[in-house]
Amino acid sequence: MSELAILGGEKTRQDTYPAWPVHDQREVDAVTAVVRSGRWGGYPYPGPQTAEFVRRFVELQGGTYGVAMMNGTVTMEVALKAADIGWGDEVIVPAYTFQATAAAPMAAGAIPVIVDIDPANYCIDPKAIEAAITERTRAIIPVHLGAQMADMDAIMDIAQRHNLIVIEDCAHAHGARWRGRGAGTIGHFGSFSMQSSKILTAGEGGMLLCQSEDHAYKVMSLINCGRPHDPAEEIYTFGANYRMGELQAALLNVGIERFPAQAQEREAMAAYMDEALSEIPGVRVLQRDERHTTRAVYCYIFAIEPDAFGGAAHDVVTAALQMEGIPCWEGYEAMHHYELFQPKLSRLPVAQVFADRFEFDKMNLPAAEQACQQEAVWLGESVFRATQAGVDDTVNALKKIQARLAGDPALAGTIRRLMDEHG
Ligand SMILES: Cc1ncc(COP(=O)(O)O)c(C=O)c1O
Repeated sequence: MSELAILGGEKTRQDTYPAWPVHDQREVDAVTAVVRSGRWGGYPYPGPQTAEFVRRFVELQGGTYGVAMMNGTVTMEVALKAADIGWGDEVIVPAYTFQATAAAPMAAGAIPVIVDIDPANYCIDPKAIEAAITERTRAIIPVHLGAQMADMDAIMDIAQRHNLIVIEDCAHAHGARWRGRGAGTIGHFGSFSMQSSKILTAGEGGMLLCQSEDHAYKVMSLINCGRPHDPAEEIYTFGANYRMGELQAALLNVGIERFPAQAQEREAMAAYMDEALSEIPGVRVLQRDERHTTRAVYCYIFAIEPDAFGGAAHDVVTAALQMEGIPCWEGYEAMHHYELFQPKLSRLPVAQVFADRFEFDKMNLPAAEQACQQEAVWLGESVFRATQAGVDDTVNALKKIQARLAGDPALAGTIRRLMDEHG
């Protein structure tokens, strides 16, 4: 076996993985047409490109109403505001997600209540939701993380029993389906991001699916500087300009044509990856729920047992994998460690007034800690657009690293020192 690439050996993957985003002359033509039209902005909402993208996205994902916005953070803030959730209300979010899932409630004046994940699938744990409900709880934001979906049956059951609003954070879940229903169409709202890394992207962008006309009209008003959208209403609300621009929508109208073939390829390769990884001792493939009928692969997350890797945690393993030519990383920090949410650093009024609810550093969220500090490995979507050879190279690189680390108990420490020295 050759030496690890991180120690000067030859890389396992010699080719680069395919670049993202994919583009060709079609994107250039679509953007050029918008430039020449002179209709660049999102006012009046929606512009023609935006209206077309909303129509196509709702056709792809299902659901009833779609509202296109600037990104997949304001989508959640606006959903909360449209549901009349704000000052001092509690919104339950998972501890393992991007900061936006908790920042959006704070921007709406609400308190994010951070709860643990289920170690089997790394999504919010329904038992933890139930345990966190108080008389102030108004909403739950489950995140469909990586290539997983949260247990939407259990979450909707809790929401119905406690009269809570559900906003699915689908930033990773374009095209995903639960019992054949599109992610984002099961809760009251579904929030999508079209930021650069996402599997349907215009660099920036967001989409909010709404179940009810009332919510959709409120959302359209909130994102359009408060102008009334409901023809029966004349009153301005307190809104802001969160509209999507026409250049972004034009890119998305091309991207959505490419999307089904890309999604199918990623899903097939993810199934192939499941099989290959399940044969490696000390590697845990996250549980694929049979109700999760179509999988979207934004990232593919699996878990390692450090003991099976000579005591190395995931940061050492991902550093070694990267040097083998594999696009991967160790994933998010646990939400309650984000400095942003510590009251002394955040000047947000809600964090100052309800400081006792923002003592995140005192929280004990063992499953999220375990994922974040020890075991999660995130593989980039491009691994799943590079034929079976792309998956084989990743699996071979992981086996090579495991064999070398397991055979030399001092090696994990050596690699960590190298990482510290070279950043
Ligand atoms: C889980 C999750 N939610 C929300 C967002 C926010 O999306 P945006 O960057 O479009 O605001 C992201 C973006 O990375 C995300 O990963």
